[in-house]
Amino acid sequence: MAVYEIIKYIHIGCVVLSLSGFCLRSYFLLCDPEKLSLAWLKYPPHMVETLLLLSAIAMLPLLGQYPFVDGWLTAKLVAMLLYIGVAGYTLHAARTFRLKLAFIALSLSIFLYIVGVALFHDYYSWLSPVIGV
Ligand code: HEM
Repeated sequence: MAVYEIIKYIHIGCVVLSLSGFCLRSYFLLCDPEKLSLAWLKYPPHMVETLLLLSAIAMLPLLGQYPFVDGWLTAKLVAMLLYIGVAGYTLHAARTFRLKLAFIALSLSIFLYIVGVALFHDYYSWLSPVIGV
């Protein structure tokens, strides 16, 4: 298996872990907030997100495409920073149940957008086949 493939699988593994971790923490946020301060729920997500970003950075020279040069990678980077900010607000600062729910939905929408950008290599994400660019 080529190095690129291995790094891509690490990247995808981090995507799955990151999404699962966010869903689990969202569940606890809504149903059992005390659990959010458990160490195994607090620290591993930062490690996963760091590895997600490092694996992305490692793929760029191998792919020969870069953020701020190639639109889809700029979109992924900006959307990922937005996701980190919104998800962080959701888990740490959102106060009311409705606000928590709204921000969980917003975070998941951004995440879904990023997955669409990754699959279609296009900032139109899931709309890319429809718009036909
Ligand atoms: C939450 C953030 C992210 C998510 C959910 C995500 C998701 C994904 C997914 C699902 C794939 C696999 C696509 C496929 O199999 O065709 C992928 C590949 C990739 N991602 Fe990410 N990604 C994220 C962040 C980033 C960032 C910040 C960058 C770089 C700016 C990046 C660069 C790449 C590259 C270069 C590939 C390989 C594309 C290919 O070979 O087709 N990703 N990403």
